[in-house]
Amino acid sequence: MDKFVITGGNKLCGEVTVGGAKNAALPLITASLLVRGQSRIFNVQPLTDIRTICRLLNILGAECSVGDDMVIVDTSGLKNYEAPYKLVKTMRASIYVLGPLLAHFGRARISLPGGCAWGPRPVNLHIEGMRKLGAEVALEGGYIIARARRLRGANIDLDFPSVGATGNILMAAVAAKGETVINNAAREPDISALAEFLQKMGARIEGIGTSTLHIQGVDELHSCDFNNIPDRIEAGTFMVASAITAGDVKLNHCRPDHCQAALQKLQIAGCDIEQGVDWVRVRRDGDIQPVNVTTEVYPGYPTDLQAQWIALMSLAKGTSWVIETIYKDRFTHVAELARLGAEITMKDSTAMVKGVGKLKGAPVMSTDIRASASLILAGLAAEGRTDVTRIYHIDRGYYRIEDKLVQLGADIHRERDE
Ligand code: UD1
Repeated sequence: MDKFVITGGNKLCGEVTVGGAKNAALPLITASLLVRGQSRIFNVQPLTDIRTICRLLNILGAECSVGDDMVIVDTSGLKNYEAPYKLVKTMRASIYVLGPLLAHFGRARISLPGGCAWGPRPVNLHIEGMRKLGAEVALEGGYIIARARRLRGANIDLDFPSVGATGNILMAAVAAKGETVINNAAREPDISALAEFLQKMGARIEGIGTSTLHIQGVDELHSCDFNNIPDRIEAGTFMVASAITAGDVKLNHCRPDHCQAALQKLQIAGCDIEQGVDWVRVRRDGDIQPVNVTTEVYPGYPTDLQAQWIALMSLAKGTSWVIETIYKDRFTHVAELARLGAEITMKDSTAMVKGVGKLKGAPVMSTDIRASASLILAGLAAEGRTDVTRIYHIDRGYYRIEDKLVQLGADIHRERDE
């Protein structure tokens, strides 16, 4: 296993290019299962999670290849409808094949994703959605077993605007007979990108970007190419990297309009922000001001940037509160940040973060993608050496993050963890 060795204290300065969004690319790749032939998706980073979803598509009989910045899916040989346990257990987003497989084969057999490091992550909304579209769904032997002769449009009111459930239902509904309305749909840019890809395939969707999606099922969809959107969470992570090191970083090839909640918080925390359509510059000279954050669905402050915010607030001039409303137990980074000297007190889903004058390097362990990012950020700002172990978590969602950080002046390298 690899680890990162960081010597903290360098201010990050310069320019960095943001890669394609992981969370948007995953459903774009599985949506390719809805058509026969070749789809090309550009601006996709060769991340571990992208390789995992491609492995799954290959098991299904499609040919899916990952290039430096694109994924090509050829579905000519698609023949299986089972997503096995051994792959689904490594990546929950494998559930994104449910809708497309049901639409394509009228059948799907998907291992139940189960929980993850930060608690249970149910899929009831995905299952209820498929049932509403006319599928029979049973849970047997740890698998979701779904069947439908022909999916038919329905009115679906989501209890919560789940990103995954909205995406799955959308992919199934475009091929269903008649009209589907998804109320309380997720408005994340990842869902809008998916809807636009489906439209390019010939789907009829209205209300993109709003919480009500109207879908008219069509009989045939065709393959096409699509440009993935930039990763707003990678962007947010680099913004916080600049802020936490009193740096001056310009992010290129990003979408500041997708990052407004984080940018507003950074400004209140004392950063200067300049932005254009596809770039943003974040710099900090003065103290870090304490700023409270509550995670919310888009366009609110994202849960995927909560851990990074706690790292930043650990060095603020005062106390702040960080409330997690999406995944209430998502705080595995707190104990690790404490090893660097952070003072964080937990009560239910609220972290009270008392800013300390400085953090000091220590060995810490990654537990999930975003928690790992927060440990790297804290290590960059800490005095002395920080070793971050189990970095396979970070490789799932950030492509060679150390190279991008070194380019900005950080002292970080990858080593084999003996
Ligand atoms: C996606 C992101 C993840 C991010 C999350 C919230 C991907 C691959 N992952 O995950 O990085 O943290 O959005 O922005 O895109 N829920 C249910 N039942 C369901 C589905 C969800 O109760 O069937 C609940 C979850 O437990 C959670 C909330 O809804 O409390 C949000 O989950 P959801 O939006 O579905 O997250 P994911 O799509 O899994």
